Amino acid sequence: MRHKIIAGNWKMHKNAQETGSFLNDLINEMPEEKEVEVIIAPAFTNLMLATQILEDTNVAVAAQNMHQAEGGAFTGEISADMLTSIGVQTVILGHSERRQYFKETPALLANKVDTALRHKMRVIFCVGEELKDRKSKQFQNVVFYQLKDSLFHLPKEAWENIVIAYEPVWAIGTGETATPEQAQEMHQFIREQVAHQYGDLANNVTILYGGSVKPDNAQTIFSQPDVDGGLIGGAALNVGDFTAIISAI
Ligand code: 13P
Repeated sequence: MRHKIIAGNWKMHKNAQETGSFLNDLINEMPEEKEVEVIIAPAFTNLMLATQILEDTNVAVAAQNMHQAEGGAFTGEISADMLTSIGVQTVILGHSERRQYFKETPALLANKVDTALRHKMRVIFCVGEELKDRKSKQFQNVVFYQLKDSLFHLPKEAWENIVIAYEPVWAIGTGETATPEQAQEMHQFIREQVAHQYGDLANNVTILYGGSVKPDNAQTIFSQPDVDGGLIGGAALNVGDFTAIISAI
């Protein structure tokens, strides 16, 4: 069901001690009475600690990646079963850093999405164009194929467990954010493509914006009609900034 989400993607930051102290501070400083789901995606090594600390709170824990196979000889990899067995029900897939540095392809990502859904996990699926695509006005085309190649094979029912995160690559970690108008244009475009493929359920899909969201720009981005929240990188590493972003929605 469509709802407001603020998710923090910690990437390769925070060891166990830092994770513990951030999460305890977050519990104490969480804005109250907010109709927003808060999610934290720490490193694999800290997922168990995070699920334990957050057990009786309404902050959810997500993984940043997982392997597509059920199990087997894949040294260094993590399966869906390993995640759900420690209470992690949400996984980020298709982040541009995974696509860029780890050569994750649309077909591989379709496979990962299928595996996650088979395990009844929720997927936060990232899409977003590079700067060259925006300059050449191919940005909608690029995002359309990212959706089509990894998600549009899914049956309608599966969409209950899909959240989309639009993260323009040129705005990630650069301090340069999409304007509220650019974000709205793409979010509306994404919703239209889902509607074209699946009909009315598109109105129930949660679409997050990611890319240099900070306390001072969060509110104008989140006030756009098709922006349902944010996937936050750098600003999710600081409790004060993160709670300010939660308050902004
Ligand atoms: P920044 O907020 O640091 O730009 O990162 C965004 C992101 O990649 C979240 O997944």
